[in-house]
Amino acid sequence: MEYKENDSVRLSADGMSAEIIDQTLLPNEKKILTLCEPDEMFEAIRSLRVRGAPAIGIFAGYCLYVLAARYGDKDDLPEKLREWSGYLGSARPTAVNLTWALERVYRAAISQVRGERIAAMRREAENIHIQDIEVCRRIAQYGLTLVRDGDGILTHCNAGALATSRYGTGLGALLLGKELGYEFHAYVDETRPLLQGARLTSYELYEAGVDCTLICDNMASQVMKEGRIQACFAGCDRAALNGDCANKIGTSAVAVLAKYYGIPFYIFCPISTIDAACASGENIVIEERSGDEIKKMFFEKPIAPEGVKCYDPAFDVTDHTLITAIVTEKGIIRPPFGNKLAELVGG
Ligand code: MRU
Repeated sequence: MEYKENDSVRLSADGMSAEIIDQTLLPNEKKILTLCEPDEMFEAIRSLRVRGAPAIGIFAGYCLYVLAARYGDKDDLPEKLREWSGYLGSARPTAVNLTWALERVYRAAISQVRGERIAAMRREAENIHIQDIEVCRRIAQYGLTLVRDGDGILTHCNAGALATSRYGTGLGALLLGKELGYEFHAYVDETRPLLQGARLTSYELYEAGVDCTLICDNMASQVMKEGRIQACFAGCDRAALNGDCANKIGTSAVAVLAKYYGIPFYIFCPISTIDAACASGENIVIEERSGDEIKKMFFEKPIAPEGVKCYDPAFDVTDHTLITAIVTEKGIIRPPFGNKLAELVGG
């Protein structure tokens, strides 16, 4: 597997550690973390040092391989793999790619005889990454067919290279479009409370030379009303079979506004993010995080009384009736979604 400088997740040169760009420090500092212990891997996922559904999956796959490589191909390796998978998989509940990738790498191991298991795990972990690069390229190409040169596109959270591989999903059309000479105007929701839009999306688009304007989340209605937005692009953490899509908190508010203003709202979703076991959005577990993220994080001083109650759901579910289309690597799925998503995951 050949890595590029901006890959947010990779295996170390000796193959014995997982490396990530610490996304909590961007855009001010680009620091690479080298991780080889279960606790630090768990913490990196939990604290969003590595984040975005596909990137979490790629990272988890590498982590399971690294832990096995360090432990050695002992008799009880399958039990140890189950233990580590359960632990890493519990770091965050909403993005399905986390448990999906852990399961893939686990299955690669147990399909082999002792002595072959660790090499098979590395191959599978690298395959997950290689496949994601191709998936993102295709999603970007499909995304580009949905917009016209010069369009204004509203983004929410971060679904670029940091959250995936290379082009990203929700930012794929913007980044590929730039390479092909399109001039889009991105309006980037800052994405309270963890500011993935401000810190990561505006950074990625700005670095790539895409014209981008940062807005607070509560300005979306106004920029839509002013006619600046021709399409809304968002990623996905878990899609249910009926087309309901969980993504960063605030995504469903964008979809509601888009419907009101008659603007198409698109979800960019690799097939690995469709949960075959999830019939509708009601079955999706929404991660709840500490209220300190609302009150303190990113502020010099707390912005609310110490004791005030906070509610901090990290995701919301956009109802399928608000989604104009779901863009996958196998094509653009339009309503009625019926069993189209089930067919994509082989159900
Ligand atoms: O909490 P985060 O930053 O991991 O949430 C990420 C998102 O909501 C992304 O939009 C999603 O994972 C899709 S990434 C291609």
